[in-house]
Amino acid sequence: MILPAEPWFPLRTERLLLREFRMGDFDDVHAYATDPEVVRYMEWGPNTPEVTREVLARWEADAAVWPRPGVTLAAELLDTGRVIGSIRLEVTSPNDRTADFGYSFHRPWWRQGYATEAARAVVAVGFDKLGLHRVWATCDVRNVGSWGVMEKLGMRREGLLRRNRLVRDGWRDSFIYAVLAEEWASATHGRTSQ
Ligand SMILES: CC(C)(COP(=O)(O)OP(=O)(O)OC[C@H]1O[C@@H](n2cnc3c(N)ncnc32)[C@H](O)[C@@H]1OP(=O)(O)O)[C@@H](O)C(=O)NCCC(=O)NCCS
Repeated sequence: MILPAEPWFPLRTERLLLREFRMGDFDDVHAYATDPEVVRYMEWGPNTPEVTREVLARWEADAAVWPRPGVTLAAELLDTGRVIGSIRLEVTSPNDRTADFGYSFHRPWWRQGYATEAARAVVAVGFDKLGLHRVWATCDVRNVGSWGVMEKLGMRREGLLRRNRLVRDGWRDSFIYAVLAEEWASATHGRTSQ
């Protein structure tokens, strides 16, 4: 069940369609992938057009492969069709039924609950459909927005990873957050989907 026979996406949330990327998303993706504020805490970016094209081509190629442990989905606004971000869920250890996730959103749409909405939908699938036991994520200790999302989801800060990532300007510290299946179930009162 960790890697089900059929893909578990696309997913629809209140305001978003979470679906696979396609080459036609170039303009929307490149708009946020070139923003220094968006990429500040990421290992990637700011992207050149070539890099954005390569990444989209890779995601398109990935889309032809199923099952696969890692899935990156476009967050498309239901009302306009604009892609405003991405969300990734990756089974890091099938044996331990464990996955991590990550997200990036375009700045004009920050602080409107979109990352929380997308992450909640994906984590719910992870527990309810894939049978995961633990979902975790890390973020730069300075990335208040990112740990804000995780805390809103009811994830716990488990620790500080010292100087664990070498990014553009040097070694960075990260927080690790996680939530277990039983915690998720009790926080959502046993509801089985978003
Ligand atoms: C991190 C990110 C995805 C958050 O997206 P978002 O859609 O703005 O997040 P939400 O609106 O769901 O915010 C959830 C909570 O996080 C906190 N938060 C989010 N952004 C914040 C900010 N800039 N400053 C302080 N707190 C913030 C708040 O508590 C917020 O809840 P509230 O608005 O009800 O107070 C977005 O800022 C982003 O794309 N950043 C660049 C890429 C990135 O760093 N990704 C994460 C890598 S680990």
